Amino acid sequence: MKKILFPSLALAMSLTLTACNSNNDTNEVSQQSPSEYDRELVKFPENYKEGVLYTTVNRGSMRGEIYTSREVIEAVQDGQQVPSGAVITYEIYNDDELSEIFVMEKRTGWGDQNPPDTPQNGDWLYQEFNGDRSLDYEEDIGRCFSCHANRERDDYMQTFDEMQSFDLEDVTGSKDRNTESRLAGISTEGWEINAIGDNHEMIDDEKKGEMIQNTLLAFYLHQD
Ligand code: HEC
Repeated sequence: MKKILFPSLALAMSLTLTACNSNNDTNEVSQQSPSEYDRELVKFPENYKEGVLYTTVNRGSMRGEIYTSREVIEAVQDGQQVPSGAVITYEIYNDDELSEIFVMEKRTGWGDQNPPDTPQNGDWLYQEFNGDRSLDYEEDIGRCFSCHANRERDDYMQTFDEMQSFDLEDVTGSKDRNTESRLAGISTEGWEINAIGDNHEMIDDEKKGEMIQNTLLAFYLHQD
């Protein structure tokens, strides 16, 4: 089967770029009507370490540790809706130093609280904190929504599969996602790069789509 890389990659790139551009727009908008989007709605989850470290991510000098509550993992494993009040916390270490803490939180009624010009992600909102737990006001939160929106079928959770397969008896959370080798291991075999013609065939292989998303995230996490 022929697969055309460019259209989807271009689409993903333009999503990222659109989100970048909307940073300035958002600032302008928020100066006119500051109450439109409450940037402080998602607070720092003080007790996240009491939850479950269910997966880790390794990409070169970057390491990620992802925590959530037992209830969230149980809901996923039981095929239930993730409950309101769910919080997922993603610690990002660069060269062993905690540099960012990404948080997503779901609450009934938050669905219409997303920033302007971003896709709604169910009842989830996103937040970024610096390594010292202070809120990172410089981050364009719209980007979180744009990228996670691709996982609508998994209730916007990128690590849905890891939650599903996590052994709740295994308190060490040692299952390694090892995205580094997955990225390095992208095989171009069987791929063809074509100009976009009449036949706008998109990537039909979920795994490859996921890898491209991972690559974009890797760029995103390593940018200054
Ligand atoms: C380019 C795509 C992309 C962007 C932008 C992005 N994420 Fe993610 N996010 C991912 C991927 C992929 C994962 C799975 C873990 C990994 O591979 O690093 C993830 C995982 C997460 C998780 C762990 C729960 C889950 O969904 O698996 C949280 C929390 C999270 N991201 C929050 C954020 C926040 C907050 C932002 C914005 C500051 C953000 N993300 C921006 C792609 C993205």
